[in-house]
Amino acid sequence: MTQQSTVLVIGASRGLGFALVEEWLGRGWLVIATARSNSTELDKLGTRFPGSLEVEMVDINESDTVRALRHRLGGRRLDVLFINAGIARAIEQSPVNASEQDFLDMMLTNAFSPVRAAETLGDLVPGGGAIAVMTSELGSIENATGFWQLYSSSKAALNMLMKGYAAKHEDDDHALLLVAPGWVRTEMGGGDATLSVGESIPLVVDMIEANRRKPGLRYLDRFNKPLPW
Ligand SMILES: NC(=O)c1ccc[n+]([C@@H]2O[C@H](COP(=O)([O-])OP(=O)(O)OC[C@H]3O[C@@H](n4cnc5c(N)ncnc54)[C@H](OP(=O)(O)O)[C@@H]3O)[C@@H](O)[C@H]2O)c1
Repeated sequence: MTQQSTVLVIGASRGLGFALVEEWLGRGWLVIATARSNSTELDKLGTRFPGSLEVEMVDINESDTVRALRHRLGGRRLDVLFINAGIARAIEQSPVNASEQDFLDMMLTNAFSPVRAAETLGDLVPGGGAIAVMTSELGSIENATGFWQLYSSSKAALNMLMKGYAAKHEDDDHALLLVAPGWVRTEMGGGDATLSVGESIPLVVDMIEANRRKPGLRYLDRFNKPLPW
């Protein structure tokens, strides 16, 4: 009998993270989903997929909550670790008029904390598994137009920090995936975004699946197409 595959999704209370959980549950996986507070939506999903969803409390900016999760998961094996949590602040602003705190909050939540979480949880992923982090098309320095300038900078910083992670962990045999999901209608993406969640997330999960046993760092869109750094 083959063992049920397991994914841990960090930041799954709503939006793309919630959709990742629903998609992997639909594909027969065991899903560990994290939220910052109790989520009735995740509870309802647990009722739809009995025995396949575990919910944990984690705030990626509070390292002790990530370390406590690592402790609780001791001895478990993750086929995929997906760090999705992120925020967007001061999206129309620049260093001229943005609040410094908004920029610092994005740098912490979107860049520093996800890579710290990968460092804390990555050893639960055996060789051949994948560590995926939700970045954005906007994290590409080469393609930058100035749109959402401060948020884009935090995703470019995330990409850079993952380059460092990859260099430090080159013997781990993990697929390290910086995932760009497209512009999607969520609370963050807003109503003008071009894609529904259903037009993005199933392709993202297909892309992860296609890359799982291929070690090394890649910055990819939902079609499995490499993006320029
Ligand atoms: N939507 C898009 O068009 C788009 C495009 C490219 C990339 N992305 C990226 O995709 C990811 C998800 O975005 P989304 O559109 O689904 O946004 P969203 O609807 O605003 O959801 C953000 C998620 O991140 C969680 N989160 C925020 N700060 C956290 C923290 N400190 N610790 C743990 N969880 C935290 C939120 O939890 P709470 O409910 O507790 O706040 C929520 O589950 C983000 O990394 C975003 O940058 C989105």
